[in-house]
Amino acid sequence: MKNTKILYVAAECMPFAAAGGLGDVIGSLPAAIRSVQKLQADIRVALPLYGCIGKEVRTQLKREVEFPVRLSWRTQPCCVYSLRRDGILYYFIENEYYFGRDTIYGYPDDGERFAFFSMAVLDMLEYIGYYPDILHAHDWQGALAILYRTFLYSGRRGYDSIKTVFTMHNIEYQGRFSMDMLEDVFALSPAHAKAAGWAGEINLMQGAIALSDRITTVSPAYAKEIRTPSMGHGLDSVLCRHSARLSGILNGIDYAYYNPASDPDLACPYTGASVRRKKDNKSFLQKALGLPWKKDIPLFAVISRLVGHKGMDLLCQAAQRLLTEQDAQLIVLGTGETQFEAFFAQLEKSFPQKMRALIKYDRALSKQIYAAADFFLMPSASEPCGLAQMIACRYGTIPIVRETGGLSDSIKPLVIKKDRVQGCGLTFAKYSTDALYEKITQALDIYKNSHLHEKLAAQIMEQDFSWHTSAGAYIDLYNIVFPCKYT
Ligand code: GLC
Repeated sequence: MKNTKILYVAAECMPFAAAGGLGDVIGSLPAAIRSVQKLQADIRVALPLYGCIGKEVRTQLKREVEFPVRLSWRTQPCCVYSLRRDGILYYFIENEYYFGRDTIYGYPDDGERFAFFSMAVLDMLEYIGYYPDILHAHDWQGALAILYRTFLYSGRRGYDSIKTVFTMHNIEYQGRFSMDMLEDVFALSPAHAKAAGWAGEINLMQGAIALSDRITTVSPAYAKEIRTPSMGHGLDSVLCRHSARLSGILNGIDYAYYNPASDPDLACPYTGASVRRKKDNKSFLQKALGLPWKKDIPLFAVISRLVGHKGMDLLCQAAQRLLTEQDAQLIVLGTGETQFEAFFAQLEKSFPQKMRALIKYDRALSKQIYAAADFFLMPSASEPCGLAQMIACRYGTIPIVRETGGLSDSIKPLVIKKDRVQGCGLTFAKYSTDALYEKITQALDIYKNSHLHEKLAAQIMEQDFSWHTSAGAYIDLYNIVFPCKYT
């Protein structure tokens, strides 16, 4: 891999702009690849310069180049800025009209915005005279970079030798648009309709699946699940057809950022040996949130997008039952579908002494909750990978998860035999409130045995969810895509 040039193309990247797990991954995978390689692999990342990217970043940016980008009949200006951090070069694609907005997604013209982004990234390569060996695009927002590279830039000097990898972080979000937009918005021609479409619509994810040299998703279990009709969201047959190029690589988490021993956001940093100090973090948080200040009440946490596939319907019912029947506290942090936001807000009103619904996205607060909580609830209906269960383990908070996708790849079920404990979480298979509640009851039993609880908390902190192994798996994949004599 020596000197291999890799360009990541994605809509999110920590610490600059993130709405979920994709931001974590793009913010940590490139650096992990670099550190495993211990050499000068030339790694760069391209993302839009969103309005929400703050001054502290903007003042450090270097202006690289400015050029017009043509998207069908439109021409829009684009300015590219760069920033080097920890050996990675970040390119920020600026266009005030498309990206000078408060949030990353959620606009009626999202298709056009990310078409502009992909086109601008490809145009940029010629202006800066840099052609990656591997273009690694993520999710539907990056998929067009692969379509454009194949359809619009082939035959152009520098572009033909670019190999492509496409990673799906969640097959539910495919980038589906009306076929009418093919030429007008996406600047493709009717000849591309077959490759860029599926089931009568434009489907950017399926286009990238069909055209990239390798396809990955974010856990081995999910790579299998999405090839079945019940979990493939209509793309199962496409994925089966291309399965020789498909693999699942489990995400890791950034062990420097998520480190309870030195986390600046915690009231009381701790390690496995001092895991008892989680209780001090609990008291701190209870006080900060105005909950009764009790060290000996079990605290459950949910940190998630509040959307259907995260198992919110089970959570709503189980939470109601937990707070009605038990002396326990619950904190929910996240935003999402109105019905779930409203449900948890109402639950807080019904149980003001036991429950807080924090309807927002707040990274510092999320770490304070991981540190304070005893148990972490994640009963996802489907879960491509999931990072929260790994972060929970890192902070000694016992996860309660449904066995699906990355949750089953990362959380091995707890087996407690006298003095020996194996596994790192309470897991259940059936998607039902009763199955979840049974595990909550087991968690309450564990909590009553403080010696066992502490031992478990310390033990799960030792699990290795760092990028080390998975970065190696990506490097193996890059070596297949772009064989290089220097490996
Ligand atoms: C998406 C998935 C999540 C995964 C993350 C990062 O948000 O829903 O399971 O961990 O992407 O790959």
